[in-house]
Amino acid sequence: MKFLVIGGGGREHALVWKLAQSSHVTQLWCAPGNAGIAAERLARNDAPAECVPIGAEDLPKLLAFAQDRKPDLTVVGPDNPLALGIVDLFQKHRLRIWGPNRQAARFESSKVFAQQFMERHGIPTAKAAAFTEPKSAKEFAAGLEGRCAVKADGLALGKGVLVCQSTAEADRAIEEVMVKKAFGEAGSRVVIQEFLEGLEISLHAICDGKTAKLFPTSQDHKRALDGDQGSNTGGMGTYSPTPFLTEGQMAEAEESLLGRWLRGCEAERIDFHGILYPGVMLTKQGPKVLEFNARFGDPETQVYLTRLESDLAELLEASVDGSLDRFDLRWSPAAAVCVVMASGGYPGSYAKGKPVLGLSEVSKMSNTKVFHAGTARAGDQVITAGGRVLGVTAWSATLGAARATAYAAVEKIRFDGAHFRRDIAAKALP
Ligand code: AMP
Ligand code: GLY
Repeated sequence: MKFLVIGGGGREHALVWKLAQSSHVTQLWCAPGNAGIAAERLARNDAPAECVPIGAEDLPKLLAFAQDRKPDLTVVGPDNPLALGIVDLFQKHRLRIWGPNRQAARFESSKVFAQQFMERHGIPTAKAAAFTEPKSAKEFAAGLEGRCAVKADGLALGKGVLVCQSTAEADRAIEEVMVKKAFGEAGSRVVIQEFLEGLEISLHAICDGKTAKLFPTSQDHKRALDGDQGSNTGGMGTYSPTPFLTEGQMAEAEESLLGRWLRGCEAERIDFHGILYPGVMLTKQGPKVLEFNARFGDPETQVYLTRLESDLAELLEASVDGSLDRFDLRWSPAAAVCVVMASGGYPGSYAKGKPVLGLSEVSKMSNTKVFHAGTARAGDQVITAGGRVLGVTAWSATLGAARATAYAAVEKIRFDGAHFRRDIAAKALP
């Protein structure tokens, strides 16, 4: 089978790496890919994965490429092409594609839709309301004593959420988003949620329109600096599993979150094929959903796919075809840890083009994989080309050992200005 993967970050490198191990995969393209993806080879025939210089949001060019090369399945990594309707477009042209259609992708592309859906179907979430004008938004925030999250409705490229602790802060946030349009038109409507206290975890479930299968838990580290300080980022590191939910609590979450979500989709005729990724706060009253994403998390994918024992090509096929109920989804009991190495300055402005050293040394380490995110090739060198550069991932029987190996690998890698958190997975260890 021929596969086309869309995207070029660490998540897509993990998808390509895992697909390359499948005996079904005979050809693999990635648009636009990165230097690490270009170095992958297929287990079946040793063919290289091929990077195609088309951006993940260039739908007309992606369509033309797929019509020409005829992949058996296109796999969409990022949220934006989903929100733009790439799945609807490909299906209209009779091309098989994995991911939610535009209507189903609204769980991520509209915070208002997602919040109201949760309320309609009794999915535990924060107390919240939606607003189109600032005055009533400020009144609602004042009712929460300003302890709230102000969320722009549309896709704001992973930004668009301001967490506030006082009425003055909430007023400023509402002005920024709704009046000054800090996140563009996405801010014409906002959701304001009460501030929830607790530990935040990531859940992922793969869905086929009728069945949803929950993955083990994982946890991202969204702030730039150790101890959850500094700015919000796309994610500075992950690990899986987390020790925070017992098996009983997981089963409960499966029913109260996923079961209700699935029945809601059925009632509203939403045909969701893809990954539902709820961001969940573990509050004193139990797990509550902060937001839904409609795709694999980045860098959650890096830890999930190193633990996945099932064939990824078969899993994605089952999600497209509606046969997940018969699919044997198997996970390694090993723990995995991913430490993101970022460019100095990220998530603010940063330099590019810095040579990355030490990768060949790390490639000799067992149970370790360096997923590339923002990298490019210049001659025979790998250079930095983005904010998040690498996701250094290791797995082992225990979380402590996986963490030690991941950091041993990080210590061998150097590039000018490299910055990473030293406390990934620390919360889960004694
Ligand atoms: P979101 O993109 O909606 O997940 O929000 C980004 C980040 O803001 C989350 O990962 C949380 O850390 C934080 N956040 C969002 N909503 C809330 C909330 N209601 N209470 C506390 N923190 C929140
Ligand atoms: N790990 C955060 C995200 O993928 O949105």
